[in-house]
Amino acid sequence: MCRRAEGDAAAAGVSGKPETGMAGGMSGKPETSAGPETGFPARTLYGRLKVLEEPGAPLEPEQRLKAMNRPLLAWYETHARVLPWREDPQPYRVWISEIMLQQTRVEAVKPYFERFLKELPDVAALARVEDDRLMKLWEGLGYYNRARNLKKAAAVVAENYGGRMPSDYGTLLKLPGIGTYTAGAIASIAFGQPVPAVDGNVLRVISRVLASREDILKQSTKRWMEALLAKTMPQDQASHFNQGLIEIGAVVCVPAGSPRCGECPLESLCLAKREGLTGEIPVKTPAKKRRREERTVCILEQGSRVGIRKRGSSGLLADLYELPNVEGYLESEALASSFGLEPGNILQVEPLPEARHIFSHVEWHMKGYRVLFAGEFPREYMAVEKGDLQTVYPLPNAFAAYRKLIR
Ligand code: ADE
Repeated sequence: MCRRAEGDAAAAGVSGKPETGMAGGMSGKPETSAGPETGFPARTLYGRLKVLEEPGAPLEPEQRLKAMNRPLLAWYETHARVLPWREDPQPYRVWISEIMLQQTRVEAVKPYFERFLKELPDVAALARVEDDRLMKLWEGLGYYNRARNLKKAAAVVAENYGGRMPSDYGTLLKLPGIGTYTAGAIASIAFGQPVPAVDGNVLRVISRVLASREDILKQSTKRWMEALLAKTMPQDQASHFNQGLIEIGAVVCVPAGSPRCGECPLESLCLAKREGLTGEIPVKTPAKKRRREERTVCILEQGSRVGIRKRGSSGLLADLYELPNVEGYLESEALASSFGLEPGNILQVEPLPEARHIFSHVEWHMKGYRVLFAGEFPREYMAVEKGDLQTVYPLPNAFAAYRKLIR
């Protein structure tokens, strides 16, 4: 079988070499100028490594993945975004960032990450933070169980490991809220351990490189990919390898819209690109339809105070605060009885615009009212100063449309 690489005939079939050492890098200065279309630095020779395959003798999946390593690492050296958690990849910082980055965009995470680290700079601080304060720091990020699990895991790390994050993949995996992806990310990025970190980005990139039609929402697909990458990834460059794959998935082989194959260091290896399958791969089973729920939300207002309520300790948005709300669309005449107000105490009712909030399994379709009233607040509500809604009480984004109408 003849497999030839341009220039440097490497065993993996990868070609091209920087002329002198690294052409740029996370630690060195890139010797490149900004590219005109992408804002990326112009490609170095290393960024255009090509793999030449004999037609009719394609690489086996493991060979194809191994061939990916050098171009991927070279690309990451010059194209990695500068991100706060990358500057100082200590285990605690990597852990917090990776948990925040699940389900949330990088740009949205940045300010949360900075604020969280400032207030809770280490495991000990996280283990002893008040629940309400933790939820306030997480407010707006959603998926609040992520934060609850962070605190639970911090308590375990404080208690069992003297406040130092374990470096071992299997030990990390036992901590609350840490699955194979996060354990792999912490072990590789913070400790350089050669374990893969397979998230949605990586599932998409590798499925395309291999033209795999396995459903990426299945656990079995993830396990298969983890096992494959564990065998083929560079054992001494796990951090940059994993981050490079994630980065390609985030900025090149993007989750929505067409992949930017012309910018991809893996283009010459990618079977989905070669076979025109990037529109079909990755395969995802269609998500189950979300349940639609209609609700009526009330801004219960008296002077400088509003009524809020703490939610129960289980289920959706557990232990967070909420504006008074009930299931169903209410007419204004029904507000007094539904929200426990004396009809004679209602001074004014103002209908508010409708709003919608989408959770993973349910959609809230809300109509709202502002109710100015006299007399006591009904017992089930806490009367809080409007200003304290900004600083003290964690109110989830589901209420954002109404919260911003509180003046
Ligand atoms: N998404 C998930 N993990 C990430 C990371 N470490 N950097 C950028 N985006 C990510």
